[in-house]
Amino acid sequence: MNNTLDSKIYWGESEINAAYDKAKFQEFQQQSPEQIKQACTDKNGRLKHIIRAEHFDLEFLETICETAKAARRVAKLEDKYLKSLLTGKSVLNYFAQESSRTFLSFSTAQAHLGMRREDVRDIKTSSQMKGEPEKDSLRTHSSYFNSIVCRHPSDVYDLFAIWALSLSDRSVSFVNAGSGSKEHPTQGILDYYTFRESHKEGLDGKSFAFVGDALRGRTIHSNMKILTLHQDITIYSVAPKHLQLDEETETYLQQKGTKLIKVTDGLKDVVPLIDGAIYMTRIQDEHDKDKGKQKYDPKFIFEEEMLNQMRPGAILTHPLPKREEIAPGIDYYKKDPRIMLWRAVRNGMWTRAATFAYLFGVDDQIRGQYERIKKAAATP
Ligand code: MLT
Repeated sequence: MNNTLDSKIYWGESEINAAYDKAKFQEFQQQSPEQIKQACTDKNGRLKHIIRAEHFDLEFLETICETAKAARRVAKLEDKYLKSLLTGKSVLNYFAQESSRTFLSFSTAQAHLGMRREDVRDIKTSSQMKGEPEKDSLRTHSSYFNSIVCRHPSDVYDLFAIWALSLSDRSVSFVNAGSGSKEHPTQGILDYYTFRESHKEGLDGKSFAFVGDALRGRTIHSNMKILTLHQDITIYSVAPKHLQLDEETETYLQQKGTKLIKVTDGLKDVVPLIDGAIYMTRIQDEHDKDKGKQKYDPKFIFEEEMLNQMRPGAILTHPLPKREEIAPGIDYYKKDPRIMLWRAVRNGMWTRAATFAYLFGVDDQIRGQYERIKKAAATP
């Protein structure tokens, strides 16, 4: 657990107040990972905040995946039922950093459940512009909503939010929709759903390649942490030296006993070794904006002929947005069922609906309704 005061969090204009708050937040961060997890869990052992992939276990992931599957079917057959489930609940989608899919999939998922939802997509429209510290902004948001989904450039905004929310008695669920370069837990859930649906035989023993920017790819970090929950996983981190996996994630994999192989000379030789998924990512160059858009090394591009070198069960996916990481003839033009990137976009909406259903305790109702629908259909 890092213990930093990220400069990307805005502490307000008063140095005295900022120093006071920073000291309190640092105290909060000094807790052990177990204590932090505890702070994200309710008295029944259910997660009440979704901030880090390391808080997930297989039971939680199974619940989300099964609820997502059920929600998908119930929406088709009994949309009104689904929309009636969370009409009394509200959410603020607070995106202090660019987003297309994550924002839209959250918003659409919340609409499927009937939630009242608002958004802030540009902090220039918020009171931060008048000098309001982010701690006060969060306190304000928590006065109007039952839940907050947030994307933020700071690596520790998720912890900051949990700390700031813990200072009031409002019971608000917080969902990390991407914090800095560290974590993107709901993308991890949606990718896990895609992997699981593609491998009905189970994920134990499988190999996965994460390609591109392993250093700052928050989706990669969350995915790798989730995969450590399975037995005998082999993870290939396929990236040029300067974009190789960050130390924190590497240590995490080591502690969990997950095999990690770093490959720095290109993707070609790795493709035939993978029977789980090949997961492409772009260079996350927003983290060093002064350098502008950086060129992706062609040795790490997924080329058309690599489709023939893939093991039969393996899939190809990408969290998107993509640039040049996948050769142009592939995703729109090859009708190859192993290419999952666009299907994953839909999966994201259903897994996020399932996550909200879980947070507000209606996930069992969705699964139950699906069972009833199936039973009724089977009854002559
Ligand atoms: C993210 O927000 O991390 C994206 O989904 C992946 C990316 O931006 O490359």
